[in-house]
Amino acid sequence: MNFQLTEEQEMLRKMVRDFAKNEVEPTAAERDEEERFDREIFDKMAELGLTGIPWPEEYSGIGSDYVSYVIAVEELSRVCASTGVTLSAHISLCSWPIFKYGNEEQKKTFLAQLASGEKLGAFALSEPGAGSDVSSMRTMAKEEGDSYVLNGSKVWITNGGVGDLYVVFAKTDADAKHRGISAFIVEKGTPGFTFGKKEKKLGIRSSPTTELIFEDCKIPKENMLGKEGEGFKIAMSTLDGGRNGIAAQALGIAQGALDASVDYAKEREQFGKPIAQNQGISFKLADMATEIEASRLLTYQAAWLESEGKSYGKASAMSKLYAGDAAMRITTEAVQVFGGYGYTKDYPVERYMRDAKITQIYEGTQEIQRLVIGRMLTKE
Ligand code: CAA
Ligand code: FAD
Repeated sequence: MNFQLTEEQEMLRKMVRDFAKNEVEPTAAERDEEERFDREIFDKMAELGLTGIPWPEEYSGIGSDYVSYVIAVEELSRVCASTGVTLSAHISLCSWPIFKYGNEEQKKTFLAQLASGEKLGAFALSEPGAGSDVSSMRTMAKEEGDSYVLNGSKVWITNGGVGDLYVVFAKTDADAKHRGISAFIVEKGTPGFTFGKKEKKLGIRSSPTTELIFEDCKIPKENMLGKEGEGFKIAMSTLDGGRNGIAAQALGIAQGALDASVDYAKEREQFGKPIAQNQGISFKLADMATEIEASRLLTYQAAWLESEGKSYGKASAMSKLYAGDAAMRITTEAVQVFGGYGYTKDYPVERYMRDAKITQIYEGTQEIQRLVIGRMLTKE
């Protein structure tokens, strides 16, 4: 067993860490306050090759692996969880299903545009009445000549509005439950495709979350991803890997909160000594560090399994479940270490705590991760 990262993975970590510190961290608090997405940051990630980390060079990727990808999401989220999820939704949720289920033409066109960062991707599965219960979705795609005509709406879409390409799920057979769902690649600007409400959120406030509206929106047949009726399988297998991207986001948030807590505990003096010298504080830091290491091992392991072509769905649900809950505990403790100052916007830990909460909700709530893990255990 070898727990050591390769030289390439270490180099990528250093590059993303430097980029995050110099280009992302300085505006993170301000973008959070203003609920502002910054496309320039995405464009700079594209210049570094981050938008195409795991994809082959023939599709404009950099031919790296899923471990490198989760390291990038971790390092970005360490300073700004919104930037972390921008990349995670772009790679795991939009590019992955095209890489896995797209035909050669779709990969040459759409995957290459995503990998190079020319286009930003999003994934549209959830609806007002269909969150955890995906197969109850109501958006319809009706076949008409050379097209499918989409009608309905999607909610909570990360990169919504700012994204250029959307993997959208809709029912091609209203009566066939999950077997009646199909997947489509929809381009921004397609007539009949508009954006609705932009959510005002507790955390990840510089990542836009938007409603998508489809009104008689004609999608050419060649934009169907996979076969008719394959949509549910495409969505579930996409989320198998996507959940590990969220584990990486949670891991990065938690590490950022620990880094800030250690620095503060060494500097802040009460009763004539740094607060870190109290066992009550140093034990908190020790527990935080231990849970972070466990999160990291689970996350890197799931990514390694995917890179090796082994089964990773259960490992990924476990990493998301553990790292998400750990990030919530760790960021709450970070605010405690900072005392009253932690409760203000003068320090980043209140942002980390707000951002951590989403990792327990999206890409399947923690309850759904337990359901997925439980079902896999009883099937094995
Ligand atoms: N891969 C391939 N096929 C799968 C699969 C997987 N991982 N999981 C299930 N299937 C197949 C099953 O084998 C079954 O096949 P048959 O057609 O042969 O019957 C079929 O799919 C139906 O499976 P289930 O009976 O398990 O389906 P279900 O209706 O009970 O739902 C669920 C299962 C796990 C609860 C699923 O609905 C789910 O994952 N819900 C959560 C939704 C979610 O995570 N949404 C995230 C949106 S994206 C997001 O949030 C973005 C972001 O963070 C940035
Ligand atoms: P519900 O499904 O209504 O769940 C409510 C509660 O009931 C939860 O606690 C849940 O765990 C529990 N529950 C439900 N069913 C069960 C069960 N069987 N057993 C036990 N407990 C259960 N979706 C996309 O498609 N694309 C995106 O890019 C995207 N980005 C998002 C970004 C943000 C900021 C947010 C908030 C959401 C995003 N989502 C996205 C949607 C997200 O995946 C859903 O919010 C999530 O899957 C939960 O669905 P819901 O909100 O409808 O909650």
